[in-house]
Amino acid sequence: MEVFLARHNGFCYGVKRAIKLAQDSAALEGKACTLGPIIHNPQMVERLASEGIGMVDTLQEMTGDTIIIRSHGVGPQVYEEAGVAGLQIVDATCPHVKKAQMSAYSLSEENYQVVIVGEKKHPEVKSIFEWSGHKAEVVETVEQAAQIKTCLKLGIVAQTTFSGEEFKKIVNVLIDKSNDIKIARTICTATDQRQKAAIELSQEVDLMLVIGGKNSANTTRLAQLCSNAGCKTHHIETVQEIETGWFNGIHKVGISAGASTPDWIIKEVYEKVQNMESLLEEQDIKKIQEDDIIKGTVVLINHEEIF
Ligand code: F3S
Repeated sequence: MEVFLARHNGFCYGVKRAIKLAQDSAALEGKACTLGPIIHNPQMVERLASEGIGMVDTLQEMTGDTIIIRSHGVGPQVYEEAGVAGLQIVDATCPHVKKAQMSAYSLSEENYQVVIVGEKKHPEVKSIFEWSGHKAEVVETVEQAAQIKTCLKLGIVAQTTFSGEEFKKIVNVLIDKSNDIKIARTICTATDQRQKAAIELSQEVDLMLVIGGKNSANTTRLAQLCSNAGCKTHHIETVQEIETGWFNGIHKVGISAGASTPDWIIKEVYEKVQNMESLLEEQDIKKIQEDDIIKGTVVLINHEEIF
């Protein structure tokens, strides 16, 4: 069985930066906590907890002195509230997300009707919405874009991890909504690179494993794209989820991982899949032994019948 790793996979620049900032915060005086999960990967969040970086869901829960803003960013009121509470702030917002937030803020200040192209419930989109002064419309599909009313000035901002292809289709619909349109190009290349590499690989292999948090939008999207490309795909978080039965009759396996998936998990999965042939052989040997036992029982019955 051949195993291939997608050309682009795993931690992106923004995630590496956020993890480094969080780990460096462990050395600060007093306790540091992230506000929500620093990235969408439960195993990495657990590892940080073991290194002394806790997590709170709201500022009111804070018992420490330093709050770490996660890579998806937060709205302006969180900075204000943290300041009022006397907390130190470590801002791990990805710089690409920051750019999207600032674009929404300045477009809104210039009286543009801001439209955010992204997933309404995603924390990054919520933060961009808050930076727009809570005035933006959020659309995720061409159909939703068609519902936007015409206006004098329209400003478009994309969620950083949104599909480039889908974004173009939505912009094509929004373009008719105003004569004065500004588009902030905020889609991050890390996402596009991972998506293209995963789709390419899925066309060369019999099975794709996409590794990453089940709560990670970009990993879920990677798995969807591979599956839509016609390749049998499993979205897994850790090596423990792998089932040997998936590999029967499989000759080529592709592995991809979302931007928030740590290297050590990718390595564990890669090594397990590489050893899969011997695991399947062991399973075959076990099966043969079980068959022998069954045959042995039959022999015993025959043996009894003799007496
Ligand atoms: Fe930032 Fe792009 Fe990663 S937006 S967090 S560098 S996927």
